[in-house]
Amino acid sequence: MFSGLKLLTCSAPSDSVTNSLPIMKTEVEVTWAPPSQTNLGSVYFVATVMYSCRNYWVGVQSEPLSELTRDIFWPGTVPDGYLWSTATASYQIEGAWNVDGKGESMWDRFQHNNGRFAGDDACKSYDYYARDVEMSDELGLNAYRFSLSWTRILPDGTVAGGINQAGIDYYNNLINELLINGKTPYVSLYHWDGPQTFQDQFGGWVNEAIVDYFNDYARVCYQAFGDRVKHWATFNEPWSFVVGGYGIAGGAPGIWDANKTEQYKAAHNAIRAHARAWHTYDEEFRADQQGSCGIVIGSLWSEPVDPNNPQDVLGSYLYQQFFMGWFANPIFGNGNYPQEMIDIIAANSQREGWPQSRLPVFTEEEILYNRGTADFVGLNQYSARLIHASNDTSPVDPNGWFNWMSIMIPDLLGYRETIDPSWPQGEMIFLLVTPWCVRRQLDYFRSEYQYEGPFYLTETGISEAEFEQPNFEDIWRTCYYTLYTNEVVKAVELDGVDHRGFFAWTLMDNVEWGSETHERFGLFYTNFSDPARTRTPKDSVASYRDIATTNGFPVGAPHTETARAIWDWCLTKEPYEGTSPQAATFNTGGIRQADPTVDYFLPGVRVGAAYRDKVVNN
Ligand code: NOJ
Repeated sequence: MFSGLKLLTCSAPSDSVTNSLPIMKTEVEVTWAPPSQTNLGSVYFVATVMYSCRNYWVGVQSEPLSELTRDIFWPGTVPDGYLWSTATASYQIEGAWNVDGKGESMWDRFQHNNGRFAGDDACKSYDYYARDVEMSDELGLNAYRFSLSWTRILPDGTVAGGINQAGIDYYNNLINELLINGKTPYVSLYHWDGPQTFQDQFGGWVNEAIVDYFNDYARVCYQAFGDRVKHWATFNEPWSFVVGGYGIAGGAPGIWDANKTEQYKAAHNAIRAHARAWHTYDEEFRADQQGSCGIVIGSLWSEPVDPNNPQDVLGSYLYQQFFMGWFANPIFGNGNYPQEMIDIIAANSQREGWPQSRLPVFTEEEILYNRGTADFVGLNQYSARLIHASNDTSPVDPNGWFNWMSIMIPDLLGYRETIDPSWPQGEMIFLLVTPWCVRRQLDYFRSEYQYEGPFYLTETGISEAEFEQPNFEDIWRTCYYTLYTNEVVKAVELDGVDHRGFFAWTLMDNVEWGSETHERFGLFYTNFSDPARTRTPKDSVASYRDIATTNGFPVGAPHTETARAIWDWCLTKEPYEGTSPQAATFNTGGIRQADPTVDYFLPGVRVGAAYRDKVVNN
C-alpha cells in the first residue's frame, strides 16, 4: 500500500464544471494499493488508482498502472541495500592484452584482423584499477560490476594448460580493493573475450567441447574468488556474442554464416555451459560461499506499431521470444526454447530443404537440467522498438532505418522493426531514449516466466561521439540517468518488483568493441592519448551520485526538485543534440539516415556500407 504526495498528470472528467479536458500537472494525494489479482496473461498489470486533482476526485478504473504512470516523474526511493553501480567488461577496459602471461582472446584476434588496436591497452585498468575503484567511490556507489578475462586466468583456456598466477593476483587485488572501499563485487565470467585457442582448435562456441572447458574455468573462478564474490553472472548478453560472432561477423570470432546455423549451435552450447556452471556453483560452492549465480540477458523491448492490429501485436511478442526468450525460456521458463522459435525455425528449415531443424534440440534430460538455473536475472535494458507486419524482408529499409530485425533475427520473417521519430537518440543510433521500456520489460518477464525473483538492471547508458575537444558537459547523460533510474523507483514502488540494483554503462569511456573509442559511454572521460589514461569526471557524475547516494528521488531532496524541473525536457530531443556531430547531417524526418558512406554501430558490433552490401548480395 502506497500513500503520499506524487506528481501526476490529471485529466478532469469530461462532465466537470469546466466541461473541458484540461491536462494539469500538480502535486496530488495518491492512494494506491497493489491489485489483489494481477493479470498475468497480459503485459500490463491492472490496478485502480484514485487521486485528487485540484477540486476533483478522479477514479481511474482498470487502467494499466504502467500506462498511467509511463511518462511522469515519480519521486520515491528504492530500499536500503539496493546496489548502485557502474558496469564494465575486461576487454573494454583492461588492456595488457598479452602481458604477464595472458593468452590471446577471440576479441584480440578479431580486432587485430580488422586493423584495430585500441583494445590492446584500452583504459589500462590492468595498471590503474585502484583509480577505477576510487572513481566508483567518487560516484558514491556501493557495488562494482566487471568481468573476468578467461585467458588472463587460463591462458590457453584450459586448466591443464595452467593457471596464470598473475591473472589471479590481478583480480584478487581488484576484489580486495573493492571490499576495502565498501563496494560489492558483481562479476561476469564471460563478457565475450573467450580463448582464441578454442576457436582455432575446434570452432569455439559451436563445438560442445567448450561446455566442459567453461565449467572448469567457472570452477577455478569460484575457488579463487568465491570467498569474497557473492554475485556471479555466467554470461553477459549471450545473444550479442552468438549473433555478432557466429552469425553476422560483427563481433569476434567474426563468422559470417549465410546458412543461419552457427549462431544457433553457439547459443545451444552457451546455454548448456550456463546450466553446467550454475549446477557446479549450486552443488560444490553454494553451501560454503553463500553466494548467488545468475545470468545477464540483453534485450530490446518491442511494441506493436498498431496495438489494434493482431499481426503487429504478434510480431512484437515473437520479437521477445526470438531475442530475450531464446535464453530466458530455457533458464526461467520450461527449460527449452520458446515453442514459437522451435516451430518457426523448423518450418523455415523444412522449406529450405534441411533434413532437420537448424535449431538444435535439447534432450529431456537437458531441459530438466536447464530449468531454474538462475538465482537472479540481470537485464541490460537500453531501448525499445516498434514492430509491424510486413512482407518486405529486404535488409535495408527504404526509409533509411537499418532493418536490424531481418538481419539479426533472420528466422522471424514477415515483420519489420522501426522506431518512433520522436524518440531521442544518442550517438549510437540503435539505442533510443525510451525509459519506459524498463518497466514494460520487467512486467513482461514476470508474467511470461511467472518469475518473482530478484532483478538487476545490469546495464544502461548513452554515448556521445569522440569529439576533437573533450566535452564534459554531458547534460544528455544527466537526463538519461534521471529518466532511467526513476523507472526502477517506479518498478519498486508502483509495480512491486523485487528490483535490487542499477548498473550504469559505464564507469569511463572505454573500447566500445568494433567502434573502439568512437562511442563514449563513460561517466568519466578517458584521455586515450595520455599514456596514463587520465580519467576526468563529466558533469553527469554529480547527478548520478545524488541519485545513488539517496536511493533515488526522496521527496524534498534538492536533486529531486531538479529532476522534476528537467523531466519533461529530458523526454524531448533537445538535451541529446550534443551527442553527435552527425546528427544535423544525417537527420531526416527525425530519424538519422543510413548513409552508405558511414559505418553504423550496433551494440557491440560494427556494420558499415560493405557489410550491408554483403547482406544485400547474399
Ligand atoms: C552491451 C554490452 O554488454 C557492452 O559490452 C556494450 O559496450 C554496451 N552494451 C554498449 O553497446
